[in-house]
Amino acid sequence: MNHTPKCSGFSTRAIHHGYNPADHHGALVPPIYTSATYVFPDAAYGGRCFAGTESGYFYSRVGNPTLALLEARLASLEEGAGAVVFGSGMGAISATLWSMLQQGDEVLADLTLYGCTFSLLNHGLTHFGVSVRHVDMTDPQAVAQAIGPNTRVVYCETPANPNMRLIDIAAVSAIAHQAGVRVVVDNTYCTPYLQRPLTLGADVSLHSVTKYLGGHGDLMAGAAIFADPELALRVRVFGLKDMTGAVMSSQDAHLVMRGLKTLTLRMDRHCQSAQKVAELLHRHPATKHVYFPGLPDFPQYELAKRQMSQFGGMVAFELRGGMAAGIRFMDALQLVTRAVSLGDAETLAQHPASMTHTTYTSEERAAHGISEGLVRLSVGLEDPQDILGDIAQALDQALA
Ligand SMILES: Cc1ncc(COP(=O)(O)O)c(C=O)c1O
Repeated sequence: MNHTPKCSGFSTRAIHHGYNPADHHGALVPPIYTSATYVFPDAAYGGRCFAGTESGYFYSRVGNPTLALLEARLASLEEGAGAVVFGSGMGAISATLWSMLQQGDEVLADLTLYGCTFSLLNHGLTHFGVSVRHVDMTDPQAVAQAIGPNTRVVYCETPANPNMRLIDIAAVSAIAHQAGVRVVVDNTYCTPYLQRPLTLGADVSLHSVTKYLGGHGDLMAGAAIFADPELALRVRVFGLKDMTGAVMSSQDAHLVMRGLKTLTLRMDRHCQSAQKVAELLHRHPATKHVYFPGLPDFPQYELAKRQMSQFGGMVAFELRGGMAAGIRFMDALQLVTRAVSLGDAETLAQHPASMTHTTYTSEERAAHGISEGLVRLSVGLEDPQDILGDIAQALDQALA
């Protein structure tokens, strides 16, 4: 099914991998299979499909040819052994963790996580006998010390949403594997174009495909890419099929593949513009702290250069006037759009403490490094001078 040579470059695989038009009446764009179910030539065949002894499609919650093509492409881009796609990023995270954990197990998680992931762990899995501990994974030795006899999964985001902390994936993976513990990395902020956790030693790379991979703010989707094909199979036939049912629609899979065709172009532009925005914020008197891995005074700048091929399109910052100044800044924006989510063509601004990270109490936010005045920007694809102009005038107003 794969007519692209194995050595093809990243952009080539993002466009072609796994599809041969000759197998589909010459159609340049892969067909969208909308069928929920599949016809069995005889009853015994259907029985074998359900028993797992016959490969083939039998029900689209478990497998669909359009989704399978997207899965093959994502596995190729992340250099994984297999991928499973989902109806949302939270679908991917929950199906993966439900498949890896059982009662009595422990998850060791970094301090800073996307709000709903924090809630899934602390308000969801804990109700089912899984314990969760947070440690500062910016220090890999803290992971070494925290791993206990029941730890099964080490979980982190890098860069972390929203405060941009980085985790050294190679160092943490080496430590976790010595203890027989698997490492799950949320790679949403980077996409496989900027960072490939599996090549650094992680076991699972997760995505909210809603973000950069989809790239246009017009769909919800998720993905999990695995180093171990057996774990991929378990997540499909248990986490997806039975535990969550969080299936992606084939129309959305088509839109994601359309988005993937321009992923590298879009990411290059996101990264270039974010660098300019971070530099503007850094030199403006209204800001107190700017969190962007591409600023030389970012505490983990060296790790960013080692682990990421570019510094990404996300920027976070705090204004001198705290939360009130942050709100003044947001309300003064004219081009930049006040909205949650990220990775879209539009530049988006949001306030994590009152929006995406309200699943933490204010005490938890303080303990987990999410300050009340933090503003998060997803730098979009508009003309850079327009983005910079709007941010500069809003900063001036925040100062006033
Ligand atoms: C880092 C990260 N992971 C996971 C998710 C969840 O993805 P979704 O909204 O597609 O369910 C988000 C959503 O904002 C996110 O930012």
